[in-house]
Amino acid sequence: MTAHEVRIAALDRVAECPADGSILEACLREGIWLPHSCTQGTCGSCKMKVVEGEVDHRDSSEYTLTPEERAAGIALGCQAAPRSPLVLEPLEQVDPDDGVPRHPLRDHRGRVVVLDDIARDIRRLVVELDEPMAFNPGQCAEILVPGSGAARQYSMANPPSETRRLEFHVRRAPGGVATDGWIFRDLRVGSTIELKGPLGDFGMPVAQEEPAILVAGGTGLAPLKSIAVHALAHDLAPQLHLYHGGRTEQDLYDVELFRELEREHANFSYHPCLSEQDWTGATGLVTDAVLADFPSCRGLSAYLCGPPAMIEAGVKALKRRRMAPRKIHREEFLDTSHTAAV
Ligand code: FES
Repeated sequence: MTAHEVRIAALDRVAECPADGSILEACLREGIWLPHSCTQGTCGSCKMKVVEGEVDHRDSSEYTLTPEERAAGIALGCQAAPRSPLVLEPLEQVDPDDGVPRHPLRDHRGRVVVLDDIARDIRRLVVELDEPMAFNPGQCAEILVPGSGAARQYSMANPPSETRRLEFHVRRAPGGVATDGWIFRDLRVGSTIELKGPLGDFGMPVAQEEPAILVAGGTGLAPLKSIAVHALAHDLAPQLHLYHGGRTEQDLYDVELFRELEREHANFSYHPCLSEQDWTGATGLVTDAVLADFPSCRGLSAYLCGPPAMIEAGVKALKRRRMAPRKIHREEFLDTSHTAAV
């Protein structure tokens, strides 16, 4: 297969990209960090200007990349493939000296060592890798679903200090090829898994001065668990407040771990919140629980992970409480079973 040279002018870095491969993936494999999030063509964070050369936009949707943008020479890095040598400029600026550790994308193989039901329709999947994978807390990996050609992204829930043993939280999607069709059906302890990672730029990779509010809906807890455990171990933030939304107590998990962290760290608090059950803890939408606890969010930052409706409500709520938009970090996933929990 032909490959073309792809040059990121602002960074003066070059990658070889196969003619049938995505520009973003070729750069990440080469260790060239470019802004991205979903890698599925939906978020638009990987947009780049094609300064020289020609690309094949492949599956880029008009929703994410408008016809006007195409006409102006913009491409989605995660979808476009090179038709010729390219010179590119990411639309979002990349600061190579921002202090954030960058880890090249790699293919990995591992063995399932834990596969436990931990909450309603949620499994904890732990994979022991053949080779270590360095990553930042909050990043994810793409797991290949055998025999289907499909791949699904799951965030690492373990801290980055555990480079060989990756923990994922998987919610069953009715009829889903990866979940109903595999992880909740045929997958066993001892099974082999193939994945690639790390991917994504959500997370808290370096220390920050302001306290942080972490808000999770359902299995959106996974990257926030990684962030919380890592940040507490390395004093990355003066205070961490973790909120986890579910419908009933059956949706909560790792409660004891977070209670334990509360006992060990005076600067950590844990707030499970239930939308469909009266209990001794917080009730209602998890984002409302945050609003109730913080009359002002000025000078704080937030990390939100969950279904789109929760993210939207959370961003609105935090802005209403005067949090600076650039301090609101978000990672959304489609998880319709939790829309009631937002
Ligand atoms: S559209 Fe989300 S990373 Fe490319």
